[in-house]
Amino acid sequence: MLPSVTVLLMLLSCTCGENPAIQAVLTNKGLQYGKHAAAGLIQEKLEQVTFPDISGVVNIGIGNIDYTLTGVTITKCDFPEPSVEFFQNSTGFKTSVSGLNAALTGNWVVHFGIIHDSGSFDMAIFNLRVTSVAELGRDANGHLSVTSVSCNAQVGNVDVQFRGGASWIFNQFVHHFKGQIIENIQRRICPVVHESIDSLEYHLQSMNVSFDVDQVLTLDLPLTDLPIISASSLKLGLKGEFYSKKTHQKPPFVAKPFILPEQPGYMMSLGLSEFTLNSAAYGYFSAGALQALINDSMIPPMSPVRLNTSSMGMFFPELPKKFPGLLMNLQVYAREAPVFSLQSGAVGLGVQVTVKAFAIEPNGTQIPLFKINADSKVSGKMWIADGLLKGKVMLDNLTLTLVSSEVGTVKIDTLQNTVKTGMKLIIIPKVNEKLDKGIILPRMKHAQLVNSVLKLEEGFIALSSDAKMLQTGRSEQ
Ligand SMILES: *[C@@H]1O[C@H](CO)[C@@H](O)[C@H](O)[C@H]1NC(C)=O
Ligand SMILES: *[C@@H]1O[C@H](CO)[C@@H](O)[C@H](O)[C@H]1NC(C)=O
Ligand SMILES: *[C@@H]1O[C@H](CO)[C@@H](O)[C@H](O)[C@H]1NC(C)=O
Ligand SMILES: *[C@@H]1O[C@H](CO)[C@@H](O)[C@H](O)[C@H]1NC(C)=O
Ligand SMILES: *[C@@H]1O[C@H](CO)[C@@H](O)[C@H](O)[C@H]1NC(C)=O
Ligand SMILES: *[C@@H]1O[C@H](CO)[C@@H](O)[C@H](O)[C@H]1NC(C)=O
Repeated sequence: MLPSVTVLLMLLSCTCGENPAIQAVLTNKGLQYGKHAAAGLIQEKLEQVTFPDISGVVNIGIGNIDYTLTGVTITKCDFPEPSVEFFQNSTGFKTSVSGLNAALTGNWVVHFGIIHDSGSFDMAIFNLRVTSVAELGRDANGHLSVTSVSCNAQVGNVDVQFRGGASWIFNQFVHHFKGQIIENIQRRICPVVHESIDSLEYHLQSMNVSFDVDQVLTLDLPLTDLPIISASSLKLGLKGEFYSKKTHQKPPFVAKPFILPEQPGYMMSLGLSEFTLNSAAYGYFSAGALQALINDSMIPPMSPVRLNTSSMGMFFPELPKKFPGLLMNLQVYAREAPVFSLQSGAVGLGVQVTVKAFAIEPNGTQIPLFKINADSKVSGKMWIADGLLKGKVMLDNLTLTLVSSEVGTVKIDTLQNTVKTGMKLIIIPKVNEKLDKGIILPRMKHAQLVNSVLKLEEGFIALSSDAKMLQTGRSEQ
């Protein structure tokens, strides 16, 4: 009994999986825009297609004619706007094109008994209809996968006009060829559809689900679950976890579930959870990347307090007497990983650091002076304006605690007030100046985000946006 319960529990804990920390939604508006752009590309491609030879045998009453149509190319193609919809029955898309007409040209060769003849031909295909259903899934490595599950092709009619050779004879028999040619064309379309979906699948499989962000961090983005298709959207749940390339350490916290609201007025939405931000902070922390050495040349010139032992008397009364006129260094390192917290309309960031101070002798020797813990809370807002990510931060709280001192008494409250004032008057305004200029939104090779709106919600950041394709003929309107 007990072992089976254990197995059951293990299975349950495996199958319930992890919550996606990043959610991406494609709305119907986005699907239709993407289709429109793809239709333009397909039209361009169709005009360069060369078809494989079509051959067959027709009985014309007095014997069999072997015919081959070679070098078949499209001269004109009127590719109507296809329709595409989210298809819940097979968790995918249903695409159809109807009323496609095309003019083709090529060469013909016939063998009729001992007679060999050849020439050229013009062909018109009328009212071609193709319906294809593709199913989306997820493979074991978390790639999005796509499979062609059904395809149907119907040709309304064809008309063929032979030229050259004894074409005046063959033109009499077009009605004999027609059925075969229609069937031949119909038979060849779905394999091409399957092939192009297979090639899309091949591309999806070869895509990375992890991306190096910088020298320290990797972002892990496999799907956590099967894609979810509704009548109006496609939803993808992604792991969205950063980790240190060096330590590969998992953060000691997990992603909480969140619900990204539907925004049908935008082409897509993206939800980025607190977990993703905090995993990045933890990744930097565990890699030891959150540390800095501060010296006097980094202190803004306007600051009255310098990193010079002689200017520290009001906080450390004995320091200027013990080591007069020496420059100082501050070693600052994170004690814990910084923690982001997202609330409706605001982002909070808690940072806990330790500061070790040293006096520098003229010969370079460093003398330890004191060690102080500094805990600060910063809060801010973020928004998108003119295609730029902007923000504003403020210092909510700063607490200094003395850990040890080699230089006697420390007036920690005075120091805390001075540092707080310095942050508020110098550091925070500098940061805000940068944030006010804005950060350019990431741009993909073929598309750019437009009309983007960013909202801070309880536990996640919601980005809703339209996209604009770059350099694709027909869609550029
Ligand atoms: C979808 O599936 C349902 C139930 O299996 C079926 O009744 C319906 O006809 C299907 N719809 C389409 C468009 O195939
Ligand atoms: C995938 O990742 C590997 C290793 O990080 C890298 O060498 C390769 O270029 C990446 N491929 C793509 C398509 O980004
Ligand atoms: C302070 O540090 C910077 C960067 O490490 C260095 O370029 C500069 O020379 C240092 N200044 C002093 C006074 O040590
Ligand atoms: C430190 O400050 C004192 C007093 O302002 C000054 O005399 C001294 O030159 C400074 N030390 C250095 C190394 O700049
Ligand atoms: C550096 O100078 C200090 C005093 O000026 C002296 O005590 C110390 O031994 C010196 N260190 C070295 C490595 O020369
Ligand atoms: C600032 O932090 C201290 C210590 O963590 C806490 O006691 C105090 O209430 C905080 N003040 C504000 C305004 O949040």
